[in-house]
Amino acid sequence: MAKISSASCFRAIFLGALIILCLPHPSTGVPLEELERAIAILRVRGRALFANAIITSDLLFDLLSDESLTLFAPTDSMLFDLDMTHSLPFYVSTLRLHSVPLRLSLSGLRSLPNSSSLPTLLPSHRLLLTKHSSSNDSIFLDGVQLLIPGLFDGQHIAVHGLADLLPLTAPSSPNRLVEDSAALAKSPWFLGSKFSPAPEPYFAFMDLSPAESPSVEEVSPSPSWGEEDFIVGDEGGPLDGRNNGF
Ligand SMILES: *[C@@H]1O[C@H](CO)[C@@H](O)[C@H](O)[C@H]1NC(C)=O
Ligand SMILES: *[C@@H]1O[C@H](CO)[C@@H](O)[C@H](O)[C@H]1NC(C)=O
Repeated sequence: MAKISSASCFRAIFLGALIILCLPHPSTGVPLEELERAIAILRVRGRALFANAIITSDLLFDLLSDESLTLFAPTDSMLFDLDMTHSLPFYVSTLRLHSVPLRLSLSGLRSLPNSSSLPTLLPSHRLLLTKHSSSNDSIFLDGVQLLIPGLFDGQHIAVHGLADLLPLTAPSSPNRLVEDSAALAKSPWFLGSKFSPAPEPYFAFMDLSPAESPSVEEVSPSPSWGEEDFIVGDEGGPLDGRNNGF
């Protein structure tokens, strides 16, 4: 369970002090003032938890170091659920998944071709943008509808509201780019995650130093599976009917 609440007060004060220290220096990233305005909009437009999550996590610094940004704000209730049911690292990774290091206004999103793949601040995770021919202008990211486009439209930052939360899953969708498949093949925990939906395997994704995640350095599914079985299992594991059919 992610515990943002207890330490968040001190953390916010600490971050605030850091920001003030940084203020006089010219920055190459998005202007702090513009990000503050975007966050203020999130608060008043019903996405307050996303706003709070940004300023109480390291994500703030990542956001400030990008030249331009698009934030896809999940709903408060979905973010609350996530906070209650998952670890803090998983929570923060999910936040990164909602942040794209490019400014994409609504017209920018509309001008992208169907099935475009957008980078996110979570390494090796991209978002698949689709447009449904049946519902005119609707835009979907990984299947989640863009419900409130154009919440904020600044010079460097665009913010849109989602109908839900972008699920942090293994980059396994068949629609993904080839590079994601390659990353997937190299990712040993993915197979394990098929059998165990526990959040722990995600540690492997998150750039955490061993000191930060001492318990999960290597994700090896089961000692009884050899490396070869494991790879073969990728195409047809015990739960995959195809393998048993032949
Ligand atoms: C966009 O692609 C998806 C599948 O990737 C398809 O279902 C959808 O109909 C396409 N939309 C348009 C407008 O072609
Ligand atoms: C699509 O747009 C047309 C008018 O341009 C409207 O009549 C129709 O209801 C819209 N369909 C959807 C699914 O929004």
